[in-house]
Amino acid sequence: MSHAHGSPSPVASKAGTPLKGRIRVPGDKSISHRSMIFGLLSIGETRVEGLLEGDDVLRTAEACRALGATITREAPGRWRIIGVGIGGLTEPKDVLDFGNAGTGSRLMMGVAGSHPITSIFDGDASLRKRPMRRILDPLTQMGVAVISEAEGGRVPLTLRGPKETIPITYETPAASAQIKSAILLAGLNSPGRTTVIEQEATRDHTERMLRHFGASVEVAPHGADGRAITLQGQPELRGTEIVVPTDPSSAAFPLVAALITPGSDVVIEGVMMNPLRTGLITTLIEMGASIERLNERDEGGETVADLRVRHSRLTGVTVPHARAPAMIDEYPILAVAASFAEGTTRMQGLHELRVKESDRLAAVAAGLAEAGVEHEIQGDDLLVHGSNGKVRGGGNPVATHLNHRIAMSFLVMGLATAQPMTVDDSAMIATSFPSFIPLMRELGATIQD
Ligand code: S3P
Repeated sequence: MSHAHGSPSPVASKAGTPLKGRIRVPGDKSISHRSMIFGLLSIGETRVEGLLEGDDVLRTAEACRALGATITREAPGRWRIIGVGIGGLTEPKDVLDFGNAGTGSRLMMGVAGSHPITSIFDGDASLRKRPMRRILDPLTQMGVAVISEAEGGRVPLTLRGPKETIPITYETPAASAQIKSAILLAGLNSPGRTTVIEQEATRDHTERMLRHFGASVEVAPHGADGRAITLQGQPELRGTEIVVPTDPSSAAFPLVAALITPGSDVVIEGVMMNPLRTGLITTLIEMGASIERLNERDEGGETVADLRVRHSRLTGVTVPHARAPAMIDEYPILAVAASFAEGTTRMQGLHELRVKESDRLAAVAAGLAEAGVEHEIQGDDLLVHGSNGKVRGGGNPVATHLNHRIAMSFLVMGLATAQPMTVDDSAMIATSFPSFIPLMRELGATIQD
């Protein structure tokens, strides 16, 4: 399928020399989106270092501009935002077009929807298929009017917010940081306390950044794995400095590439080690991966480490469902690692993967089939039967369905398969990791367009 940037651009990868060297991947996508959003909602100036300049984040920046923020790029990764403060948003003149970005669109529904303005949300063919009810339901309870929506609660949709939102207590129906964040952001314009209950803890960047900008947030344990997060509404957020740590979800690609490519020895510098994001590393270490955490330190309020990764013999494991929130975006690349392992890897409870940029579970299975990897889907579980380092590869180009992580995963796979792998389109890689191909080439990878 073609997309907003023109015709599809296929890319192929093939086995070559071992991967060697040191790289640093770009800033975290979740924190980059939130940097723009908190900049908008603050009074005064916010300075951001290390922003991910991927398409998704740039769409969020555009939307923040349309709502009144003054945003300037001072140097690569260095941005300055002058906010308008909670309650100060202006009505956008145009449709807010979020392109491929689920996070940007959903978080901004909480932001724009909680103000007495009319805002229209839209996106590309992929975003138009993704479920937005999960955001619209709690927002409606908070007093937000959904004026129009595409069938089944999808974009394009139009929101009209109240003067102040109604504070609610809401238990999220899925383990989703996007749902949690949209509610908390809408709760900023409430006169009282907004509580979100999640049965399984998801990434906590919104909570951390709320505090960093001056809001009062209480977090209490809830049940075995969950949390209750309470925000005191209508704080005065003050512009501040943000250093964006690097994205563990992007680091995952060179990391697995080094694990599966014989002879490799790679250092990935300054990777964010937030425990709600490191499920993949936990899993790979259980599988026998050689991953050393070096030089652990604090950067911008998060622990980061340099990861030294060496080619390893991997063994299949069972990945419990409870770990899903900490590695939700990493299952496609884990499936690649599992293809090279000895024995079966069972990934439990992957229903949330079906509602990403595309049905990632189906897309992973289709890609594995092209590469000749034995696998099964049993209910919401994915089973990959590894072939102990020997994967055929080849097949037809893998269909990426506008999904950046599917594209990167199968390009990584092709670095260690007997025959090269091709993906049908690489353009979407720019949404989250624009420098993926040059960085992989720097390590010695053979990737050809
Ligand atoms: C994100 C939350 C996750 C993740 C996405 C980023 C966020 O989505 O997949 O890439 O920044 O809050 P869900 O909330 O749908 O799990």
